[in-house]
Amino acid sequence: MPLTNLLKTSTFRLAVIYLALFAASAITLLAYVYWNTAGFLARQTDEAVEAEITGLAEQYRQGGLPLLVHTVIQRSRDPGQSLYLVLDPAGRVLAGTLDARPAIEVGADGWFDFDYNRKTLDGTEVKAARARAFYLPDGYYLLVGRDVQERREIESLITNALIWAIGMTVALGLAGGLFMSRNMLARVDDINRSSRDIMDGDLSQRLPIVGTGDELDQLGRNLNAMLDQIEALMTGMRQVTDNIAHDLRSPLNRLRNRLEVTLMQEASPADYRHALEQTIAEADNLLGTFNALLMIARAEAGSLREAMTVVDLAPIVMDAAELYEPVAEESGLKLHVDVQEGLQIRGNRELLSQATANLIDNALKHGLPPAGEAERIITVSAAPDPARPGRGVVLAVADRGIGIPAGERHHVLERFVRLEASRNTPGSGLGLSLVAAVVRLHGGQIELEDNHPGLKVNLHLPVLGR
Ligand SMILES: Nc1ncnc2c1ncn2[C@@H]1O[C@H](COP(=O)(O)OP(=O)(O)OP(=O)(O)O)[C@@H](O)[C@H]1O
Ligand SMILES: [Mg+2]
Repeated sequence: MPLTNLLKTSTFRLAVIYLALFAASAITLLAYVYWNTAGFLARQTDEAVEAEITGLAEQYRQGGLPLLVHTVIQRSRDPGQSLYLVLDPAGRVLAGTLDARPAIEVGADGWFDFDYNRKTLDGTEVKAARARAFYLPDGYYLLVGRDVQERREIESLITNALIWAIGMTVALGLAGGLFMSRNMLARVDDINRSSRDIMDGDLSQRLPIVGTGDELDQLGRNLNAMLDQIEALMTGMRQVTDNIAHDLRSPLNRLRNRLEVTLMQEASPADYRHALEQTIAEADNLLGTFNALLMIARAEAGSLREAMTVVDLAPIVMDAAELYEPVAEESGLKLHVDVQEGLQIRGNRELLSQATANLIDNALKHGLPPAGEAERIITVSAAPDPARPGRGVVLAVADRGIGIPAGERHHVLERFVRLEASRNTPGSGLGLSLVAAVVRLHGGQIELEDNHPGLKVNLHLPVLGR
């Protein structure tokens, strides 16, 4: 994995930002620690020197130079960490622990740092010191200081520790960031690889799920669910295309054969006329099938969903029923319409009307009661859904015919599916498919149930649509 890729990952950037924040707070903290230790020691040294100076100044005030020199000589016998030096105007040492005046110019405030030779049991050692010096009246020179060798060593220990701490923080942070980015990048690479396979046409592939339930897993799961959906749709689509091709071939073949047969034999104008009339009827059938397919496609496209308005179910259902009144009468059936007023839903008027018409058409075509059955009646009803009061309505069409066996009720909703019993009735098997598509578009559910005897189709439609 190239390093530049690692550095470009959002994880690494996040890690670096976090690291910068962390380092800033660590440095603040360490600076505080430093100030409290090394700074404290430095202040302590200066305070000790100041205290000595105050003491010596007091002596000088009381006894002048002699008392000062005397005190310095006394203190120099057991100086501890203290350093003293008194010089006369000619630069000769009068008293003190130092051999000579340090060759360093005094700063404005009188403080200065210098190195001096300290006598030990085996020779001398160079030590660090800090002192304050003054000129007394008449040109005498007084230096009061303190050995700070130990303090310097502690300071450098602390400084080293701090530098190490900051260095380690940055190094560990960078290493951690790189490590995390590598993990992240590896997983994203896996996802990318699977995506490419899928794009190359292998729709059965799925993105890898590690199982930790983290956001990448969630993303993967969602994308996989999306792929499932796409695959199902594609399969459905392929089936539909196959079906359409297959089911339109037979009527087209029939049509063509009829024309061919008519052409082959000597026929009278009346025969030709008859053949042409039949051809037109077949072509009308084909057109009907195409229209039904287009309507289903439209209902399934979902783009109509945005264009849905609030519609009143009662007039839609009553108008559709009215259209079938003559046909029903012809078959000796009574069309009983029981629709409540004021049932409003969000929907598409044209599609709802077509769906109702399809159901009534089916009842008249397939739901004829056997001869001798007393109740020759088809009921069309619309009412509030008792299961979802205020939120749903039920549009139902019920007949007293042979019904549909329970095992087939799901099947008949598919395109071009016609049951054996309906072999001899005209139709293409798209009526219920359209009803199902319309119900789906409206966010409802279709339910086929036994009417004892006969079939009852319930369309459960939500009032507000989806
Ligand atoms: N009320 C019913 N009683 C009994 N069987 C039915 C009823 N409604 C539908 N079916 C069965 O379901 C099948 C599918 O119905 P669908 O409405 O989809 O197609 P169709 O009526 O055969 O043709 P089309 O509606 O396209 O003219 C029918 O062929 C029939 O076998
Ligand atoms: Mg039908």
